[in-house]
Amino acid sequence: MALRNIVTVGDPILKKKCRPVILFDAKLHTLLDDMADTLIEANGVGLAAPQVGILRRVVIVDTGDDGIVEMVNPKMIEKSGEQTGSEGCLSVPGEYGIVTRPMYAKVRAQDRFGKWFEIEGEELMARAFCHELDHLDGHIYTEIAERMLTPEELQEMTAEASEE
Ligand code: CO
Repeated sequence: MALRNIVTVGDPILKKKCRPVILFDAKLHTLLDDMADTLIEANGVGLAAPQVGILRRVVIVDTGDDGIVEMVNPKMIEKSGEQTGSEGCLSVPGEYGIVTRPMYAKVRAQDRFGKWFEIEGEELMARAFCHELDHLDGHIYTEIAERMLTPEELQEMTAEASEE
């Protein structure tokens, strides 16, 4: 278990398309374990392998309810509804944007041993699935944000968070 460096926007690796995982080996398990450590340390909701410099189709999501969900070779198989709200990314530190996403999303993926499963989520979970899967195709939310939050709005958000 170890922390990995999170690459930030401007690094060309974030714009590349990731390759599928073929080997469900110890190297993959180490990557997943390190990504979990890195996500928890950064207090984030999700992390995709390209954000730690690995161009493979691996993401993890942690919305705080069900522990960390590991998804290898994930595919979006269903989405419906709509939600508009603020979204951030560990690779775009200190910024948030307003992004419209589906309210519901269902993903088919493999676990760390290669076994296929399906997982569905609403609200934050659905938003995180979409956000993390986009990373695997080289896309960041800032491309689709209708606008970024102003410094005043960011300040307000931080104040609200610290009251909780
Ligand atoms: Co992100």
